[in-house]
Amino acid sequence: MKAIVTGAAGFVGSTLARRLLNLGHEVVGVDALTDYYTPSLKVSNLARLKDAKFTSISGDLNDLPLKHLIDGADWVFHQAGQPGVRKSWGEDFGVYSKANIDATQRLLEASRQSSTLKKFVYASSSSVYGDAERYPTLETDRPQPRSPYGVTKLAAENLCTLYASNFGVPTVSLRYFTVYGPRQRPDMAFTRFVRAAVLEEPINIFGSGEQVRDFTFIGDIVEANIAAAIEETEPGEIFNVAGGTSISVNGVLTLLEALNGRPLDVRYGEKVAGDVLQTGGSTSRIFEMLGWRAQTALEDGLAMQLAWARDTFGRRGDSNA
Ligand SMILES: NC(=O)c1ccc[n+]([C@@H]2O[C@H](COP(=O)([O-])OP(=O)(O)OC[C@H]3O[C@@H](n4cnc5c(N)ncnc54)[C@H](O)[C@@H]3O)[C@@H](O)[C@H]2O)c1
Repeated sequence: MKAIVTGAAGFVGSTLARRLLNLGHEVVGVDALTDYYTPSLKVSNLARLKDAKFTSISGDLNDLPLKHLIDGADWVFHQAGQPGVRKSWGEDFGVYSKANIDATQRLLEASRQSSTLKKFVYASSSSVYGDAERYPTLETDRPQPRSPYGVTKLAAENLCTLYASNFGVPTVSLRYFTVYGPRQRPDMAFTRFVRAAVLEEPINIFGSGEQVRDFTFIGDIVEANIAAAIEETEPGEIFNVAGGTSISVNGVLTLLEALNGRPLDVRYGEKVAGDVLQTGGSTSRIFEMLGWRAQTALEDGLAMQLAWARDTFGRRGDSNA
């Protein structure tokens, strides 16, 4: 199959693209190498995709001629976006609406004209739920985002549903619950934690650490994308993709301390506006329709991310992990 992966230089996009190439698919990766975090990390993610079946296109989805890009493709995995809750307030909102809403609309418009496209998989987010009605949250529960980021992810998801119902674009939206694992973005909690653990630096926590998250291993996210592409679905489907272990940030730190074999220096600071108290997604629907279920236990995934951090950031002294 021929797959377009947008955001191919990012954390999820590069891991997905690598997996598709390993499965023998042809991959066209598109990325603008935005400066949300250091572009050099994105360049090294792209370097891992070197393969006869990989083509890299450097450019912004808001500028590139997309019809030409999508022509002949079987799958679009739309992972490009401006992530992060914290920065989505204030002046930067325009960056979020352009990267998350406008770019998705352009891609859907181009997809609408394709005669070869079999699936358009969109990387949505658990942030569309905000403080959810209940836990585990069902896809049919009312979305009520608490951050501008969540608002843009929901708007793009609604665009997917609109293009599906009006024009039959074969969209599937996957609501990712906090993704972690090797090569996770540098601004995300687990990367900050494992890096600080390896370098024996303080770990700064936003708020009390009692916020609960449903963490999902990157390998499981990738398999959910592939299942969404392969399995038959009605246009406009929406699925939660959640790891299934809701745990507090303090609980994660206890696990990490045990894995790393020495006490962590944890410091608590201000809570972030827009951060929710809890996330936890029901995966009954995705299991029923796609046969997908998370395979990686949090302890195992965290151990893999810690091992990656040791390779990446260096290690001082011994460890029992
Ligand atoms: N990582 C998570 O926990 C998580 C959770 C829920 C949803 N998501 C969604 O998954 C997707 C991937 O997240 P990630 O963690 O890999 O982020 P990332 O920042 O590592 O990757 C996103 C990539 O998209 C690129 N990009 C941004 N705007 C672009 C544009 N207009 N044109 C072309 N490229 C552009 C960036 O340069 C970046 O490389 C995002 O859409 C994000 O909203 C991620």
